[in-house]
Amino acid sequence: SPHTVTTLPTARQPGRPFDPPAELLDARRHGPISRYTFPSGKPGWLLTGYDLIKSVLADSRFSSRKELMLHPTIDYGGIQIPPAPPGEFLLMDDPRHSRYRKPLMGKFTVRRMRLLTERLEQITADHLDAMEKAGPPADLVTAFAKPIPAITICELLGVGRQDRDSFREQVDAFMDAEAEDEDVLAAYTTTQHHLAELVAAKRAHPTDDVLSDLTDSDLTDEELKGIALILLAAGLDTTTNMLALGTFALLRNPDQLAALRADPTLIDRAVEELLRYLSVGKTFMRTALEDVELGGQTIRAGSPLILSYNTANRDPERFPDPHALDLHRQDGGHLAFGHGIHQCLGQQLARVEMRVAFPALLDRFPTLRLAVPAEQVPLRPEIADIHGVKSLPVTWDT
Ligand code: HEM
Repeated sequence: SPHTVTTLPTARQPGRPFDPPAELLDARRHGPISRYTFPSGKPGWLLTGYDLIKSVLADSRFSSRKELMLHPTIDYGGIQIPPAPPGEFLLMDDPRHSRYRKPLMGKFTVRRMRLLTERLEQITADHLDAMEKAGPPADLVTAFAKPIPAITICELLGVGRQDRDSFREQVDAFMDAEAEDEDVLAAYTTTQHHLAELVAAKRAHPTDDVLSDLTDSDLTDEELKGIALILLAAGLDTTTNMLALGTFALLRNPDQLAALRADPTLIDRAVEELLRYLSVGKTFMRTALEDVELGGQTIRAGSPLILSYNTANRDPERFPDPHALDLHRQDGGHLAFGHGIHQCLGQQLARVEMRVAFPALLDRFPTLRLAVPAEQVPLRPEIADIHGVKSLPVTWDT
């Protein structure tokens, strides 16, 4: 009979901010699939093995539909969750999902990525200038890791320069993992309102951006608003935490940092390895639509599955020496962007952001280091969807 996990971990192991919680690594040692009972009492499964997770992600018998999702650690009682609103295709199955994903796929064109790269180099340089001018120490999250992805998404959605600060404040408030529910709801409503205005503006006066392009399709304003919301929700926290946690990880692995400084051509591989090693998108959910045999178990129709992407990315059967950050690693194929029909739509954009931002930061501050002992760097809570640091105090020689 399979291993049973009774409670999900609430914290990382002390002194190991980059590694999956011990309970998940332990579950993987027992096998790629464990039983897990959800707080409501519903029986489900926790998957920690790379191959098994990848096969589920490629299998249409497992659904991403919002109305079928069960929260892994909170019992909301019998509340019936409504289906994902128009445009919010992360939590839909095909064919509904592809109605939104298809028209978007063609929008991340080579030309637009090249233009964005140039803008990103400028945006990054501006923020490094400001950091340097203010002098050490700095919080790398507020000075660098947050604004770069935020401005990038604003470029993508065509948010005007004068509206960016208020736009970012709203989005920050609704993505705050530790805020009170009613504050999050209020900020969410305001963001919805902002996005509706933005869609109307692009409809009236299209500019050179992805959102304006999409007004040239049969998508309604309501649907465009949902798409914009998904791009924000999926593209901000993820990239921000890759930049901040990635810098933290490099500073904690001085040999790897030195290797990257010595050989700038290592950056593409370094970005992939940081994606694997950090797996900031830790866990995603699926629900079985019918009975399925999986890893020697029968998954009953309606069963919820927790997919631990971060444990899969540390699977010793897939990655030799999985807990080492090794920027020269050649084994590739991490699951940090997922797999299958929901595989990250923004992955090329995220890669461009990291390939520009990390080298620029390291170039500008050759003596960059933590300004506090590593164990004092505050981590985001484990209940947050995205792993990362709340702040990253850094300093450098002037
Ligand atoms: C989906 C990770 C950046 C837009 C996903 C998924 C993962 C992921 C794991 C799949 C979720 C699932 O399996 O259910 C990441 C990481 C990022 C990043 C680690 C940063 C390093 C971005 C950016 C954008 C974006 C910058 C937007 C511009 C999306 C969208 C989806 C998605 C729209 C949904 C795709 C679909 O359902 O078809 N991302 N993402 N992501 N991501 Fe990203």
